[in-house]
Amino acid sequence: MESKVKDKDSLLRRLMEAGGEPVSGQMLADEAGVSRTAIWKWVRELEEEGYTVRSVRKKGYVLEAMPDLLTPALIRRHLKDDPFVSDIIHYESVGSTMPIAHREAQNGASGGTVIVAEEQTEGRGRLARPWSSTAGKGIWMSVILKPDIPPHRAPQFTLIAAVSICRAIRETAGVEARIKWPNDLLIGGRKVTGILTELQADPDRVQAIIIGIGINVNQETEDFPEELADIATSVRIQSGHRIDRAALAAAVLRNIGFYSKIYLEEGFAPIKMLWEENSDTIGRKVNAVMMRETVTGTAIGITEEGVLEIRTEDGAIRGIYSADIEP
Ligand code: BTN
Repeated sequence: MESKVKDKDSLLRRLMEAGGEPVSGQMLADEAGVSRTAIWKWVRELEEEGYTVRSVRKKGYVLEAMPDLLTPALIRRHLKDDPFVSDIIHYESVGSTMPIAHREAQNGASGGTVIVAEEQTEGRGRLARPWSSTAGKGIWMSVILKPDIPPHRAPQFTLIAAVSICRAIRETAGVEARIKWPNDLLIGGRKVTGILTELQADPDRVQAIIIGIGINVNQETEDFPEELADIATSVRIQSGHRIDRAALAAAVLRNIGFYSKIYLEEGFAPIKMLWEENSDTIGRKVNAVMMRETVTGTAIGITEEGVLEIRTEDGAIRGIYSADIEP
C-alpha cells in the first residue's frame, strides 16, 4: 500500500516507493491537504538533508539519489514491515550512544528502540577502552531490549548480537565474519565489530539490556588511527566494495529481532550452536590473558552463561568469565 503523504517524512517514503518515476506535485498537495508550495518546501528540506529530488516539468518530483546516512527513513526502507524496531533516534554527532540509550530506556522507551549516530566523539568499548567512531564511515548504535528474563541470562544477548551481525554482514556484503570470544567480530583476522552489552536490572528481573554495536563499514585503511592500523579492518576493505550502511544496519536489526525471538521461544541452545559454528576461538589453542594470570589451552566451547571453556594441557577444564584472548 502507498504511504499517505502528511509531512516531509511521508513525502520521502512516497517518492521512494515511486521507484524513480515522477509523482505529481498537485496530487501530493491534494493528498496531504496542503498547497503545492508546502510540498515544494518539504522537497527543499529533503534536498538540504542530502536527497537529490528532480522536478520534471508537467510530471512531478523524482527522487534521484539518497544520502549515505543512517536516518530512520533510510533504515526503515530496508526493514520494510519487520516488526522488531519500534523507534529509531538518529544523531549527527554524540559523545556515545550508550548513555543516551540508558536514559531513553529509563524514560520508558520500548524494546526495539535504536539510538544511532553518524559520529561518536567519545565512543567507548569493553573495559572502558576508547572506540574509534569516525563520522559517516561506520554503524555506531545502541539497541534497547526489554526481555522478561532474570539478570543472569542477560549476557546471552551479546552472543545473540554476535550471531546476528555475522549473518547481516554475510547477507549484505557477502563476506564471512568470525566471532572472537567474548564479543569481537573478525574478518581476515582483524577486528570489524565490537559489542558492548550493559544492563539495567532489579535483583531478579531485567529492566533493559542495552546492546552497543560498533561496525567498521566503509573505512579505507588510512581512515583508521595509527594504533589500530594493524588490528582493525572494515567490511569495505574486506569485501572490496562500498557498503550501503543503512542496508547493513537494517539487516543487523532484523536479525537481532529474529534471533531474540528464537531465543525467547526455544532457549539458548540454537544460539549456542550458531555461535560455536561462527566462532574463531573454538578449537584453537589460545592464551586467555586475565588481570592476575594467563590460562593456556584449547578453547572447547561456551557454557549457557557464555563462559569460555578451555582445556588446559593437564586435561583440566577452566571456565573463563572475562579475558583478552590471544592466539
Ligand atoms: C568493544 O569491542 O570493546 C565494544 C565496542 C562497542 C562500540 C559501540 S559503538 C556504539 C556504542 N556506543 C559506544 O560508545 N560504544 C558502543
